[in-house]
Amino acid sequence: MNKALDTDTAALVQADRKHVWHHLTQHKPYEATDPLMIVKGDGMRVWNQNGKEHLDAVSGGVWTVNVGYGRESIANAVRDQLVELNYFAGSAGTIPGAKFAEKLISKMPGMSRVYYSNSGSEANEKGYKIVRQIAHQHYAGKKHKILYRDRDYHGTTITALSSSGQIERKQQYGPYTPGFVEVPHCCEYRCQFDDASDYGVKAAKEVEKVILQEGPDTVGSLVLEPVTAGGGVITPPEGYWETIQEICKKYDVLLHIDEVVCGVGRTGAWFGYQHYGIKPDIVTMAKGVASGYAAISCTVTTEEVFDKFKTNSDDPMSYFRDISTFGGCTSGPAAALENMRIIEDENLIDNTTAMGEYLMEQLRGLQNKYKVIGDVRGKGLFCGAELVMDRQTKEPAPESMLAAIAGDCMEQGVIIGRTNRSLDGLNNTICLSPALISTKDDIDEIITAIDNGLGKHGVI
Ligand SMILES: Cc1ncc(COP(=O)(O)O)c(C=O)c1O
Repeated sequence: MNKALDTDTAALVQADRKHVWHHLTQHKPYEATDPLMIVKGDGMRVWNQNGKEHLDAVSGGVWTVNVGYGRESIANAVRDQLVELNYFAGSAGTIPGAKFAEKLISKMPGMSRVYYSNSGSEANEKGYKIVRQIAHQHYAGKKHKILYRDRDYHGTTITALSSSGQIERKQQYGPYTPGFVEVPHCCEYRCQFDDASDYGVKAAKEVEKVILQEGPDTVGSLVLEPVTAGGGVITPPEGYWETIQEICKKYDVLLHIDEVVCGVGRTGAWFGYQHYGIKPDIVTMAKGVASGYAAISCTVTTEEVFDKFKTNSDDPMSYFRDISTFGGCTSGPAAALENMRIIEDENLIDNTTAMGEYLMEQLRGLQNKYKVIGDVRGKGLFCGAELVMDRQTKEPAPESMLAAIAGDCMEQGVIIGRTNRSLDGLNNTICLSPALISTKDDIDEIITAIDNGLGKHGVI
């Protein structure tokens, strides 16, 4: 229920309005209205500055709070660790760092080494630096190019953006870092070929074409999201990953999987790539690793990749000369360990699979009811509904329609997501990623809100 703002909160809303520069936000409207502040969370729910309760269908807005809000055991684990040792630079080890690395690797057969930093962008940058240094150390600098895919996103820094296939996110922030080359997307609903048969294999073979055009001896790695997140919740088509794996092997291209969104349970497996039998060389993760209770990201590699940095210990330039100051914060691995314990003890991976199937069924139900839903896609509790003005032509619904539907859901007390200033003319997908603790009742509430929103704003 709404409540009158107390004096302290009212003053802090004005402090926020006056001094905080919000992420991804046009501030002009705040000259006339107050910005949204979220002041409390518990389980699946958050409360705004006016005391209004919302069911959060996007885990903190950006697929992060996987185990839900208000977890005292994580807060206690972080507190206990901070008084024992809050920080030491990552050139030394720490107890929680060692414990979490061992636990994490036990969930990732074939992987071996964990490099800590503190955002998804940074984790990916480490992956790129590893590839670049291997090129210099072992291929005379030649095998340095990094391929990325249209519609994927890998982060916000200039180099992470250089490796991102989202035109609108990139606009006005160039020039970009050289050596990054785009490959085509694999969204079957937006098939690029006249003949859509065997789509997954065809889409993967497009990657091979780019490798051949660039010259295989110049290509060091391929970075891909297992399921594309902000680019429209794109699940891989059948045959895609098998072919990608073969191509990487054939041309000696390292496979870097960006699990920043999919990692740590979101898709109904510990990692998204594990659904598809992939053997990556580099895996990056961030958001759900500690569910936002502390900042932590990891760049995980095979022992084979790691070994390349110690083949010539006489060469002072041959080891990985990288640092992340806050990668040495012990709060990250302490929170991540407890986060993982919760996922195991509460069987949240199984719950994610079961509730993800239920969510997909409900979305298909809405698709039968509303012509505006052209496609529904998803894996685990990570689902999307693409809105179109015409099912034949697949003309994308305008961003304003999605904004109206999301705004309506917000009014009803349910926070949903949508692709947002990512792709030119294709910001038309509703995104759902509720916490892994979701129940059927939660999902019914989310679906009812979307149903109401579509009924008012999505009838075509
Ligand atoms: C797939 C993916 N990779 C990387 C990032 C960047 O993570 P961060 O914002 O923590 O730098 C994001 C952020 O949304 C993402 O979705």
